[in-house]
Amino acid sequence: MKSRPSWWIPESEMTPESTYLKRRELLRGLGFIGASQLLSGAIGDWAADATEASTSGASASVRESGSSRSQSVEARRYPRAKKYDLQDPERPITEERLVTSHNNFYEFSLQKSEVAGLAKKWTPPSPWKIQVAGLVDQPMELDLEDIMKRVKLEERVYRFRCVEAWSMVVPWGGFQLRDLVQICRPKPAAKFVKFVTYQDERAMPNIKGMPHYPWPYTEGLSLAEAQHELTFMATAIYGKNLPQQNGAPLRLVVPWKYGFKSIKSIHRIEFTDTQPKTLWVSLAPQEYGFLANVNPEVDHPRWTQKRETRLDGSFFPKKIPTLMFNGYANEVATLYKGVDLKKNY
Ligand code: MTE
Repeated sequence: MKSRPSWWIPESEMTPESTYLKRRELLRGLGFIGASQLLSGAIGDWAADATEASTSGASASVRESGSSRSQSVEARRYPRAKKYDLQDPERPITEERLVTSHNNFYEFSLQKSEVAGLAKKWTPPSPWKIQVAGLVDQPMELDLEDIMKRVKLEERVYRFRCVEAWSMVVPWGGFQLRDLVQICRPKPAAKFVKFVTYQDERAMPNIKGMPHYPWPYTEGLSLAEAQHELTFMATAIYGKNLPQQNGAPLRLVVPWKYGFKSIKSIHRIEFTDTQPKTLWVSLAPQEYGFLANVNPEVDHPRWTQKRETRLDGSFFPKKIPTLMFNGYANEVATLYKGVDLKKNY
């Protein structure tokens, strides 16, 4: 029998594509999809929430998340969690309120607790377009909604480890980056993928506040890393649309790397044959390198990486040992054969 990887979530706990499509069909049948897109008003929202209540009983959580009307309507297009893997003592899920209020999104603020409030004032453009450029058969502009019709939507519960030594466990919704790479059709010469965050200087006050930063926020992966089955493009958390502070409407999640690799609000993807220059490598390569694999044996120059503080909302949160590759060594170690992991940065 094929053994299950450590990150595996039972099929029964994912939103099957058929359920997602059925719900969408039902909404369309009742005239809500289309009307809500055109009007983006209270009626569309109310109607969608009411329909959701009758199909999944989850309208309360939708209402809570519906800080903006368009977000509430769009939530229907994203994978919805029915139930999380709460029984697993190894990885109890972090409370949603912590994950959505303790954020790093430097374009808004360096203060974690300030990010959510500031980011909520930013309305991501809709439709959300993603430019695809570089070593591809054909440069193109993709629409997120179209991408989502072409990929397999699923939910993944992953550990998340920030380089600053705090961590959490998050139920992400979205799809494998591998599927998107396929849609982009990179040329054989492509070896790396570069990601760029949407930049809106008026809505993101810290861009001007930190003019010495090489904005826009840019990150990258090798093509092999990008095509690994764990590498995920998130559009949702806790069964709801990603809120702005967590990288709406589309962010990267690479669970075996430090959190700064998980770039938010991606609007450009470029395929290259050389390692892309990322924001952090430009600023401080000795502290935040390109590889950035979680490694308890390689300390940050200013603090240990042996342990991490798991967010739990208490004054004295628990410290737990950090695991090699954040606990995903079985799945990803083969990507780094021959690489000196002591020179992780
Ligand atoms: N993406 C952008 N565009 N800007 C950022 O400042 N911070 C990174 C990463 N992605 C960041 C970003 C860092 S340092 C971390 S730890 C994670 O986002 C935090 O994600 P979270 O706020 O959803 O927990």
